[in-house]
Amino acid sequence: MIPENAIWASLPVPAFVIDQNNNIQDVNSAGEGFLNASSKTVTGQSVWSQIRVDTPIEEAFDKARDKSTALFVNDVDVGCGSRAPLQCALQIAPLIGQEGCMILMITPRELAGRMTQSHSVKSAAQSAIGMAEMLAHEIKNPLAGITGAAQLLSMNLSSEDLELTDLIVAESRRIVKLLEQVEQFGNLSEPDRKPVNIHDVLDRARRSALLGFGAHMKIIEDYDPSLPLAYGDPDQLLQVVLNLLKNASEAADPKGGTIRIHSYFEHSFRLRRSDGSGQSLPLQVEIIDDGPGLPEKIKDDVFDPFVSGRENGTGLGLALVSKIISDHNGWISVTSVPGRTVFRLSLPRVPRGASN
Ligand SMILES: Nc1ncnc2c1ncn2[C@@H]1O[C@H](COP(=O)(O)OP(=O)(O)OP(=O)(O)O)[C@@H](O)[C@H]1O
Ligand SMILES: [Mg+2]
Repeated sequence: MIPENAIWASLPVPAFVIDQNNNIQDVNSAGEGFLNASSKTVTGQSVWSQIRVDTPIEEAFDKARDKSTALFVNDVDVGCGSRAPLQCALQIAPLIGQEGCMILMITPRELAGRMTQSHSVKSAAQSAIGMAEMLAHEIKNPLAGITGAAQLLSMNLSSEDLELTDLIVAESRRIVKLLEQVEQFGNLSEPDRKPVNIHDVLDRARRSALLGFGAHMKIIEDYDPSLPLAYGDPDQLLQVVLNLLKNASEAADPKGGTIRIHSYFEHSFRLRRSDGSGQSLPLQVEIIDDGPGLPEKIKDDVFDPFVSGRENGTGLGLALVSKIISDHNGWISVTSVPGRTVFRLSLPRVPRGASN
């Protein structure tokens, strides 16, 4: 027979035992991770002071206790401490043999939901990119012909007509540039992963942004200095952060705006794959801006290639970001409302035994 405390400690979801006065009587280690507090500090505390649920659940909870039945609640926002609320499913059941005690399990839905999103993003990106690469190759040759012909024509033209051939040449160049971007996307190699200090990457991105596309922005560093090393390709991660800073700078008012780069550790953040294997992604980096937010029309598809809300945008930035993060076995998510857009990267730390 497996000892009960082994089962309790191994449960991969946050679980709590609640006594008849709605105080926390016990919490498993996933629960400690969820609350970011030790069992010692939360035991004896009122459960609803530690866990904030956005729907009035207390009455239903007490009813389930009175009737000795289970209660399942889907899609509620659950917050705790200073952490932003996560969408969760709650499972509540009476604890057999302990009069008045209830067991409460919290499953963050985000993990399950976002997992499938990442896979579909990857495959959608791959097929669209494969197609676009082929097209890029095919279009470049005739385009060179068109540009050459326009340049030849322009030699014998009046200045009025010259404007038109100039337009042909300029627009053709713009198309070539776009095609080159598409090809670059297709050429992205597998990441060369090593231990990296993510703050060095963030610093480089920040400095380069302030010198160029983000000169009108204020970029605040809000780093957790005790963050361990990440396991990634520093050049590719730099590309990721630059793209996110660039998007935030482009969305901001031309007079300026504020971007906060926030790094922190969340040791309970795990990604569960459909094959049942798990990956711990405890390093979190958030790029937060106070701009207008993602346009409503493209909100659900921003990670797809060629989805852009900007005039002249190619819509490849976030597709590239999503591909790189997915090649790193990491995670990216976004929440956006006018005035606050947060792109969050979750990355693995250096595995034991990885060479330095
Ligand atoms: N921080 C942000 N605030 C508001 N909108 C954003 C933000 N980041 C991305 N977007 C929206 O998402 C769209 C897609 O971004 P993405 O980087 O993929 O493409 P793009 O910036 O349009 O073009 P490219 O990056 O290829 O030059 C943007 O056009 C913009 O409308
Ligand atoms: Mg972009």
